[in-house]
Amino acid sequence: LLSTIDSLYMACPSCLAEPNLDKAAPWRDLPRTANRCQYCKRAPLDLVMLEALDVLVDYGIRDAGDSLRSVGTPLVEIGYPMAYPPRLGPKSLIVVGDRLTREAAAEMMEIAEIKGVIQSTGIPGVVDHTRGGREGVLLAGCDVRADLVQSVFGDLLIYKNQSRIHIEFSRQGSPKVRIVENLLFRGPFREVVDGYCGPGTLGLVCALAGARRVVLNDIWLPAVENVMMNLEANRDLLGIREIERPERATSMVGDSPVLVGLASGRSQIEVYHGDLRRLFSRVGPTDLCLIDPFPGSDTREAELACQCCHKVVII
Ligand SMILES: C[S@@+](CC[C@H](N)C(=O)[O-])C[C@H]1O[C@@H](n2cnc3c(N)ncnc32)[C@H](O)[C@@H]1O
Repeated sequence: LLSTIDSLYMACPSCLAEPNLDKAAPWRDLPRTANRCQYCKRAPLDLVMLEALDVLVDYGIRDAGDSLRSVGTPLVEIGYPMAYPPRLGPKSLIVVGDRLTREAAAEMMEIAEIKGVIQSTGIPGVVDHTRGGREGVLLAGCDVRADLVQSVFGDLLIYKNQSRIHIEFSRQGSPKVRIVENLLFRGPFREVVDGYCGPGTLGLVCALAGARRVVLNDIWLPAVENVMMNLEANRDLLGIREIERPERATSMVGDSPVLVGLASGRSQIEVYHGDLRRLFSRVGPTDLCLIDPFPGSDTREAELACQCCHKVVII
């Protein structure tokens, strides 16, 4: 995948011109000229979203005044910063919308390029630990996709169950990874905690950069399960020899840290399910602690808990 990613979404020489539909125009005014390529069989993203909107209009969920934007967020199966709209092959797009039904989602799955349909009305995960966690609903198909995370230390594929994990994709690449790269250049940091790790992106970049011990922690069980998937998926790149699962998590929202994963090899990677505020009595202080919260969440107590570490950085 890494060796073909550059051309994965490019138009082939026989593809028709990009339809470039107006995303805010009402359905009734949208031109019907776009087609799949007769040679490579792939479809422009606009065509797939237009066919999805057709289904929603058929089911009465949207009307002739609604636009392509009303369908929801299109997530390509492998997120990759692209300077052009993608051409999509079979089962390569997950649609995240806020007003869908199971019947309409099943019909959307008849569109060859659609891999999954998710109903979501907010950010999945734990935004505020006092209110518990939130998930979207996978209405049809499969919700697993990956983002390609490119760093100067190497590239990783970070997989996520997108109905349970927030969307973390930027057209400009990954600004958070740039922050971590700059920190690591000013290191060395031998022991790192990624305290709000989500599916593991930032901590795994630290492991790629050569940190001897990396502790990944998240309060949300689906995030931690995705970290385990990402250890497997990036096993060779990370130089992992063995992965163990020492302890079992018992709740969706963690509290006292539970060591759900331990990978050994070039680095020691520990994966905890728990509240960052309780982590350090178990793992001890480290050189660097990263906290990457959702925008607007209160991290004062977590920051206090990390003061034992040499350096604490809020991303
Ligand atoms: C913005 S996301 C992290 C994204 C991640 N760094 C990435 O690059 O994909 C914030 C994460 O913090 C987690 N979180 C929120 N409160 C927490 C707490 N008290 N302890 C540990 N994790 C927490 C959430 O479950 C969520 O996965």
